[in-house]
Amino acid sequence: MNVDPKLVTQSESSTAWSEAYRSLRTNIEYIQVLHNLRTILVTSAVPEAGKSLTAANLGVVMAQAGIRTVIVDADLRRPAQHKLFGLTNTKGFTTTLAKDLAPDVCTQASPVVHLDVLTSGPLPPNPADLLSSNACVHLLAHLKAQYDMVLIDAPPVLGLSDAPILGRSVDGVLYVIKSRFNSRRADQKALQQLKQTGSQIIGAVLNQIQDFDERLYYYASN
Ligand SMILES: Nc1ncnc2c1ncn2[C@@H]1O[C@H](COP(=O)(O)OP(=O)(O)O)[C@@H](O)[C@H]1O
Ligand SMILES: [Mg+2]
Repeated sequence: MNVDPKLVTQSESSTAWSEAYRSLRTNIEYIQVLHNLRTILVTSAVPEAGKSLTAANLGVVMAQAGIRTVIVDADLRRPAQHKLFGLTNTKGFTTTLAKDLAPDVCTQASPVVHLDVLTSGPLPPNPADLLSSNACVHLLAHLKAQYDMVLIDAPPVLGLSDAPILGRSVDGVLYVIKSRFNSRRADQKALQQLKQTGSQIIGAVLNQIQDFDERLYYYASN
């Protein structure tokens, strides 16, 4: 299995990059205590914000903390998790939904202990219909019962109904902001859309900060 080197949490242990993901996990753990969060949707206003990479790295650090985690690739337009974890994608989320298979049949173990991945599976012509089906609601409930944490990698909000549809069936939405993209209006619009459709926004990740200086964030004794 060839894991993408951008899964920094998997390849390195003490860089500022992986530390940033670990503090994200800690912040989520705090909210979790209050709200019993077990299913989290990761989305953004626009493509290329870093949703998939955030979901993948967050999944790794959660699993490293002993939290039994599954990442579900629900971006049925531009799936990425199979590539990040070096997995096959002949079956996955869509096969489970379309053929009414048990999710356990399609879930794959990742190279990280306690972390499984349900890759997208073959892409359907009608992602929004599939995501709004009862089968999808049942699948998420099933995974929630099997794992401590279900992280869902979603498509962007603007122009598509997929993420707001999924947002209704999860406990919380983690919103990724692409910092190099001047996106305040797009973010406002996307967040408004998510809230209007009943999503609970649990927090935001400011991603792709320019000139990220590791030394500024270095705080370790070794
Ligand atoms: N924090 C980051 N540092 C470096 N590259 C990043 C970061 N976040 C995302 N990228 C890169 O930006 C591109 C888009 O990221 P991706 O996670 O696929 O975005 P999305 O899922 O929102 O479309 C990918 O090539 C990814 O590797
Ligand atoms: Mg993606």
